[in-house]
Amino acid sequence: MRTGLFKRKTKCFGIDFGTDTIKIYKKGTGLVYVQKTAIAVKNKKTVIAIGDEAYDMYGKVPEQIEVIFPLINGVIASFDRMVSFMNCVFLDLTREIGKFYGAEFHLVVPADLSELEKKAFYDVIDKSFIRASRVLLYDKPAVDAIGCGIDFNRTEGTLICDIGAETTEVSAIAGGTILHSRLFKNGGKDIDDAISAGVKKNYNLIIGKKTAENCKKNVLTLLEDDDRTEKVYGIDLVDNMPKELLLTDSLARPYADEFLNSLIDNIKSVIERIPPEFASDFYKCGITITGGTSSIKGLEKYLKDNLKFEIKTAEDPSDTAINGLALIMEGKYKLEQEV
Ligand SMILES: Nc1ncnc2c1ncn2[C@@H]1O[C@H](COP(=O)(O)OP(=O)(O)OP(=O)(O)O)[C@@H](O)[C@H]1O
Ligand SMILES: [Mg+2]
Repeated sequence: MRTGLFKRKTKCFGIDFGTDTIKIYKKGTGLVYVQKTAIAVKNKKTVIAIGDEAYDMYGKVPEQIEVIFPLINGVIASFDRMVSFMNCVFLDLTREIGKFYGAEFHLVVPADLSELEKKAFYDVIDKSFIRASRVLLYDKPAVDAIGCGIDFNRTEGTLICDIGAETTEVSAIAGGTILHSRLFKNGGKDIDDAISAGVKKNYNLIIGKKTAENCKKNVLTLLEDDDRTEKVYGIDLVDNMPKELLLTDSLARPYADEFLNSLIDNIKSVIERIPPEFASDFYKCGITITGGTSSIKGLEKYLKDNLKFEIKTAEDPSDTAINGLALIMEGKYKLEQEV
């Protein structure tokens, strides 16, 4: 009898569905997939690329090819596109790590979503060709906290602020529970959009998504005396010719204002909801900022000056949610309550 003896061990994956970047962790192996959450579709039905390759096509391809972002503001915008995207991701992964039909999946989703919106992530995995054996959902603030090195079960009170691409999730946690969490529709992409719009208005120059994102990463700084410049290339609105612009940090800085003002308002609105008996704990522990957008230069000091709270930036901020999930999956952190 061969049954049982040669049975393969169930593979186990963790997924952080970022609006900008999907991150997949494989138990016992590590991060196995980090790609833009994008899918390129030809004639509305044939998938021709996914991930970074699809993102790179944005704005460069003929009309019959559409680059779609299946998540908007942390929520599944098109269920069918999301299933197609995940099927392609799973196919890519199968090529790299072998088949994993019947695998187990641990998903991290924003806490401040409706039950239906959360269930949609479960359903995407359920409808994919992989035929998952088990799908578990976790609230992101808990997993993020663990990924930031915070003892979620025992913290007396702290704030986690995950500033991603299209969302900012601000959460107050204490004693293994999420006291309050809000998902705001603001993220680093707002700055990219403001840079594109500003450069168009002030310099008659049309620049691409990627160029604007690179300006944010390379030129934008909230620190004084931190001189930065970047050559930016785009198409001149007047004569349709390619043109170069030297963008400096002082020219780029105002484009971040609207985003920064909303960020302060968003964090304050959660601080205002902290129950009075926790006030001293939260004040002592301060706020941990994470998510890719927390890497904006000088953001930690800017928030400290404006909120008068202790601010810490997480290590590895783009990956704290997936790193937290990895600790749970590997049995290195045990959540005392289901979240
Ligand atoms: N060094 C940097 N400076 C500024 N922004 C950065 C930097 N590195 C990454 N980002 C921004 O971080 C964002 C991606 O972060 P992250 O991976 O946390 O988002 P996400 O999880 O995909 O999105 P969301 O959490 O909103 O669903 C992008 O907008 C990217 O431009
Ligand atoms: Mg995220």
